[in-house]
Amino acid sequence: MKKILSVIEGELKQAFAACGYEESYGKAVLSNRPDLCEYQCNGAMAAAKAYRKKPIDIATEVVEKLNEGRLFSMCQAVMPGFINLKIDETYLAGYMNQMAADERLGLPAAEKPQTIIVDYGGANVAKPLHVGHLRSAVIGESIKRMGTAMGHHMIGDVHLGDFGLQMGLIIEELRDRKPELPYFDPDFTGEYPEESPFTLSELDDIYPTASKKSKFNADEARAQGMDAEEIAKKEAYSQEFAHRAHLATRQLQDGYAPYRAIWKHIMDLSVADLKKNYGRLNVFFDLWKGESDAQPYIPGLIQNLIDQGLAYESQGALVVDIAQETDSKELPPCIVRKSDGAALYATSDLGTIIQREEDFQPDAYIYVADKRQELHFTQVFRVARKAGFVRPEVSMRFQGFGTMNGKDGKPFKTRDGGVMRLEQLIADIDDAVYARIMENRTVSAEEARETAQIVGLAALKYGDLSNQAAKDYIFDIDRFISFEGNTGPYILYTIVRIKSIQNKYREQGGVCAPGSILAPATEPEKALMLKLCRYSEVLEGAFEELAPHKICQYIYELSNDFNRFYHDTKILAEEDKAKQASWIGLIDLTRQVLCACIQVLGFEAPERM
Ligand code: ARG
Repeated sequence: MKKILSVIEGELKQAFAACGYEESYGKAVLSNRPDLCEYQCNGAMAAAKAYRKKPIDIATEVVEKLNEGRLFSMCQAVMPGFINLKIDETYLAGYMNQMAADERLGLPAAEKPQTIIVDYGGANVAKPLHVGHLRSAVIGESIKRMGTAMGHHMIGDVHLGDFGLQMGLIIEELRDRKPELPYFDPDFTGEYPEESPFTLSELDDIYPTASKKSKFNADEARAQGMDAEEIAKKEAYSQEFAHRAHLATRQLQDGYAPYRAIWKHIMDLSVADLKKNYGRLNVFFDLWKGESDAQPYIPGLIQNLIDQGLAYESQGALVVDIAQETDSKELPPCIVRKSDGAALYATSDLGTIIQREEDFQPDAYIYVADKRQELHFTQVFRVARKAGFVRPEVSMRFQGFGTMNGKDGKPFKTRDGGVMRLEQLIADIDDAVYARIMENRTVSAEEARETAQIVGLAALKYGDLSNQAAKDYIFDIDRFISFEGNTGPYILYTIVRIKSIQNKYREQGGVCAPGSILAPATEPEKALMLKLCRYSEVLEGAFEELAPHKICQYIYELSNDFNRFYHDTKILAEEDKAKQASWIGLIDLTRQVLCACIQVLGFEAPERM
């Protein structure tokens, strides 16, 4: 099915051409004067320069041609040369029926489906998932779903941080706690146990303890009145511990078997837990790869960079220049190997690219991470291109996101100033929604609990996604869970309302027949149809720009249009059965479009709320 804008432009182009003008002037945009028209064409103004005529004369000619067709109920040439357009009501109803009859609701499937990797989530194993990881998961999942809806082959990879210093810290803390374990006996030759020597909840405690140990703060201790000798002792221990952790990390990275065995236990426990947590967010990855998977590719890629003459030594480190003449500020070279020989974040990402090229030969890469990582990704993309790791036509995009702030405008924290865990955050939202639902108490407590989870997730995700990703935003539970305004619950409430009308209609013996939608009779009805028309165009645009907030904006407007129509129209009391069936058809289409959009955003609607 053609997008409504393409239909309009098709007609405009024909008219321009028939009047002897270049057809490319026949561009249409949504009207910026909705009081006057629905769509408009500004092409006559541009054509006027090329053809040395008055814009209004060209517009008038074109309008005359347009009036011969049936697409518009109104077209007008107005000064200085705008063409104002209103869509014909009968045509619009036909378009609605076509959308309703199409499984894809009129959304054209990509002509050339692409294979696209979305790198998002990016949790660091064995560290608690905190709100900072929320945005990557929520935005990335939505981008992936948009691509899938467009007919592309999307591959989501969680790209775990699973090979960093946290592993060395855990190993050393474990050594302090359980030195008798075989992993710490250099003479041990047997098989390492299958069973993990620690549980998930122990692990939850091991990492923070170790992290704290490695960062003893002498100033703080002094301020708290600890005596000098004690401070010196603690400081020395902390430094020694940190040193050990670094060493253990390096040994792990070099493949030392006992640490590999501990690492495997950590991974098994954490990944299962992460899957559960991401699952609760309706976030699902196709690949559970991590930085560790990139390691085998690193020696080869470094050699390759050296052989191509791209990598050179600088102050002991190995670096690749990435600066380009067009850069507005000077970009530092990408360090691919530190002076102590350790590989780096950038090297892991390059290794991962090589792996992905081997496995999938993707047409495009999309990375979703904190916007403060922008330089890192610029460096990685440029090295990958320079070295020819990816074909020149492959697109590599970074979608950075801003910080989630509390109401005080500072990065979101718990009440006592700690880092809020994702689980806690979700529980808080669910409780708040539950309380809201119980205020009206039309359902059982049990159902309210279930509904609260569905609505809570929508509140959380919509609260995030409705902001432009790159901007910081204020996390405001009270606002997010409100059933009114630009919120997830408001959208769900609209869907539930439609479902309830449909149920009552069915109870009255009504059936929803295809092709029943008639030409709109009122302004709110037409406005609703016009909004529905835009579905494909909105989804396509949102995907192109990697902008889920555009979908949010659209469904907010669509919900408003629906509610306005609903208040204006007594659907269930209508005597004229054809009219009634038409309205039912229209609201069913509305429901389907809303549901398709929230599915792309990554949440769903309950039956009642
Ligand atoms: N683990 C990283 C972090 O927490 C995010 C990973 C982003 N993805 C990537 N390919 N580097 O900061």
